[in-house]
Amino acid sequence: MTVLEPLSFECVSHSAEQTMRLGARLARALPAHVIIALYGPLGAGKTQFARGIGLGWGALQSLRSPTFTLVQEHRRAADDHTLYHVDLYRIEHQRELATLGLEEILEDEKGVVVIEWAERAEALMPSDAIRIKFEMIQESKRRLTFSTQDTATWQIVLAFRKNAFGV
Ligand SMILES: Nc1ncnc2c1ncn2[C@@H]1O[C@H](COP(=O)(O)OP(=O)(O)OP(=O)(O)O)[C@@H](O)[C@H]1O
Ligand SMILES: [Mg+2]
Repeated sequence: MTVLEPLSFECVSHSAEQTMRLGARLARALPAHVIIALYGPLGAGKTQFARGIGLGWGALQSLRSPTFTLVQEHRRAADDHTLYHVDLYRIEHQRELATLGLEEILEDEKGVVVIEWAERAEALMPSDAIRIKFEMIQESKRRLTFSTQDTATWQIVLAFRKNAFGV
């Protein structure tokens, strides 16, 4: 684990299971409303991580790669909050984002929003989003770089880091 800029750090996941566990741990550190923007190429592990978020958040159904729907809404038993799982891979033009209602989703005060292929909607990503960049290092190794531009959100990321890595 390496601390880079003041508001970012990176780590290496050695397996799909570890990536999922990291997602679950992050989910347990989250407030009611937060945007988690996932970046990186096909097969980098974004959905694995999102599945972990679903587990940690307590989603009633497991998260999977969306097929036709670009947005999947999940509920949990504990409250009336929503976990939005968004996959923008098929977005080609910015105007398609409007039909998705992404802007309203991003404003749901009782919503955690996980966005795969966030680069497709970069202009909509708020500065207090938690950004996670996935890079493929080897067959089963991925580098995850966590960052945010917001100091309050950084405290959430730090709490997760301490929980996951002890530092
Ligand atoms: N350390 C790792 N972390 C995550 N996935 C891994 C890792 N090692 C191997 N894998 C494998 O890589 C694949 C990651 O697939 P996943 O669907 O999560 O990627 P993705 O980033 O969501 O891709 P897409 O852009 O197609 O949605 C899975 O088959 C998983 O088993
Ligand atoms: Mg995916």
